[in-house]
Amino acid sequence: MEIILITGGAGYIGSHIALELLKSKFNVFVIDNLSNSSTNSLNAVEKLTGKKISFEEGDIRNQDFLDQFFKIHSIDCVIHCAGLKAVAESIQKPYEYYENNIIGSLNLIKAMKNYSVKKLIFSSSATVYDENEKMPLFETSAIGQGQNPYARTKIMIDKILQDEVMSSSNWSIIVLRYFNPVGNDPSCLLGEDPKGIPNNLMPLINQAAFNTRKLTVFGADYDTPDGSAIRDYFHVSDLAIGHVNSVQKILQDKNDLKIFNLGLGQGISVLQLINIYQDINDIKFDYSIGDRRLGDLPICYAENKLAKQELGWQPIFTHHDMCK
Ligand code: NAD
Ligand code: UFG
Repeated sequence: MEIILITGGAGYIGSHIALELLKSKFNVFVIDNLSNSSTNSLNAVEKLTGKKISFEEGDIRNQDFLDQFFKIHSIDCVIHCAGLKAVAESIQKPYEYYENNIIGSLNLIKAMKNYSVKKLIFSSSATVYDENEKMPLFETSAIGQGQNPYARTKIMIDKILQDEVMSSSNWSIIVLRYFNPVGNDPSCLLGEDPKGIPNNLMPLINQAAFNTRKLTVFGADYDTPDGSAIRDYFHVSDLAIGHVNSVQKILQDKNDLKIFNLGLGQGISVLQLINIYQDINDIKFDYSIGDRRLGDLPICYAENKLAKQELGWQPIFTHHDMCK
């Protein structure tokens, strides 16, 4: 069976992808520098599947490491998840974001070209779309200037990949634009375990529920039914299955770049998500209403028809499943 390399595979999304790939009988190799993860996630995946993940600790900013890796290992397809992802941190540390995300991606592309591995699936984001676009967002919606360094890295990598494919160098590339992945594998052996203070809403809701941190809702004065912002939350296992479908497609594709939105295709508000979480888990916790967070959109959700049609993707998990 084909060997799939996941960069950043020990992280939240990468480890769920590893699990679903192994379940679908692919072999999995992971490269990660463990800057925002640990090997616990990979151990959990091995425990759940009874299969082995090949792991090498290393940094995609290190070209020699990548060249050496591809020289030794025969890889059929790369899923590129490695990178930094916290919007606020990217404003404070732009260099680190450009270095990790852009230089890291360029190094990976170079090493792949050197060793003729030309199948790549990239973790992109809804953050690339222009903030003035109408909802829902289609794959053809306009790309923005990027509201922060993190968003700009995703926009730049998108463009680099498009230019590579245009150079007709036998690339097959799938760019997946994730909306708001949340939740964890139903086994609960795997989940979102970031180092330091989380940035995303769901891990912060979890910490509020376990009383380890106070939750603030960033703005309740938006023009939405309850005043809080609306997002397209979808289950991380659905996201992971979207990658398995993408791998199956890309192994047959030749010389192409395809872009797919992955999201549930419907938005719910921050307050609705908090209420669902409290109801389904039969738990109450306090939260406060604070100011809007700089750069946040009032409403953001996907049109996901293309992924359904071309990848045969069908998200199955509900908002209740995401919160349970
Ligand atoms: P994560 O931080 O849990 O995983 C990223 C992994 O990459 C971590 O394990 C980290 O240690 C590793 N990494 C970072 N820099 C590296 C480097 N230079 N070399 C090797 N490994 C490195 O984040 P995640 O939520 O799993 O996100 C994965 C990808 O999906 C990222 O590219 C992110 O931008 C993208 N994405 C995430 C979301 C989201 O809401 N989580 C939404 C849209 C896009
Ligand atoms: N929020 C709060 N309080 C918090 C944290 C978040 O109210 O403590 C709100 C935010 O204001 C936003 C919603 O919860 O309205 C979701 O925020 P997240 O930070 O979880 O997610 P974002 O929609 O801001 O961004 C996420 C990823 C990005 C990705 C984007 C794509 O973090 O990497 O989805 O849509 F680009």
